[in-house]
Amino acid sequence: WAIFAPYVAAINRLKKERNAVILAHNYMTPEIYHGIADVVGDSLQLAIEATRVEADVIVQCGVHFMAETSKILNPAKTVLIPDAEAGCSLAESITAEGIAEMRARYPGAPVVSYVNTTAEVKAASDICCTSSNAAQIVAAQDSDTVIMTPDKYLAQNVARQVPNKNVVWWDGSCIVHERFTAQDLRDFRDLNPDTRIIAHPECPPDVVDEADFSGSTSGIISYVERERPSKAMLVTECSMASNISDNLPDVEFVGPCNMCPYMKKITLEKVLWSLHSMQGAVEVDPVVAEKAHISVQRMIDLSQ
Ligand code: 13P
Ligand code: SF4
Repeated sequence: WAIFAPYVAAINRLKKERNAVILAHNYMTPEIYHGIADVVGDSLQLAIEATRVEADVIVQCGVHFMAETSKILNPAKTVLIPDAEAGCSLAESITAEGIAEMRARYPGAPVVSYVNTTAEVKAASDICCTSSNAAQIVAAQDSDTVIMTPDKYLAQNVARQVPNKNVVWWDGSCIVHERFTAQDLRDFRDLNPDTRIIAHPECPPDVVDEADFSGSTSGIISYVERERPSKAMLVTECSMASNISDNLPDVEFVGPCNMCPYMKKITLEKVLWSLHSMQGAVEVDPVVAEKAHISVQRMIDLSQ
């Protein structure tokens, strides 16, 4: 912590000077999560918090689509992303043309797009979802067939939770969660039978099948805090366990994790620079933003 302390102090000072708040995703490193974040959460929580921000500036410690979502929901604010290259394999996997292609393939079916998409894709969709509300959003669609984009694994997991819907999907995936295999989990459980395995729904369905629980990043944290297993394997990004382990000394975090190279682009140094320079403000074309806002707001309204 000693090497982080000067950055943390400088950022917290600049936050006051700039009247800024830091919204940080659960995958941020511990020095960001514990040192400088004003709000931490999963994608849905961060989106809802963005609507409530009264400060002048939002610094989004997360990936680019999260900063865009904040800007769409609270356009009067300056939204800074400390590294514009902090992308997402899911957001990169589909464009608005892809949405048009799916609509042509399944005429009349509503398009539910994961928030892990660009503003253009959100604008071309009917409603958004996150990992914490996807099944609820799909179930609420007034159509037998529902198009889910772009995460095929989230869609396949949701299809099993909402069996009365014909869920069809785009061929996107998360490079972090697709790397876990069901065999890895079985091997791990054979050697460590008392471990509670908890998987994010961006994992393939056979991986989720091996888990004791599946949920959004905040759902995973709540589950561990509630259940207090003696050993827990979080089948998700590595920072999750690091961020919560100090407050849960009775839980031993075990097993493999995968690093998200996009999330890890956000560092204390870059946060300090963006607050100092005020560079890296996210802009969304107003026409696109207005349509994207409808999709995101519909999701928020259905989730509350
Ligand atoms: P959560 O909404 O579960 O936080 O997942 C978002 C995500 O995919 C982060 O990469
Ligand atoms: Fe995208 Fe996966 Fe990284 Fe999340 S963990 S930002 S879904 S690549």
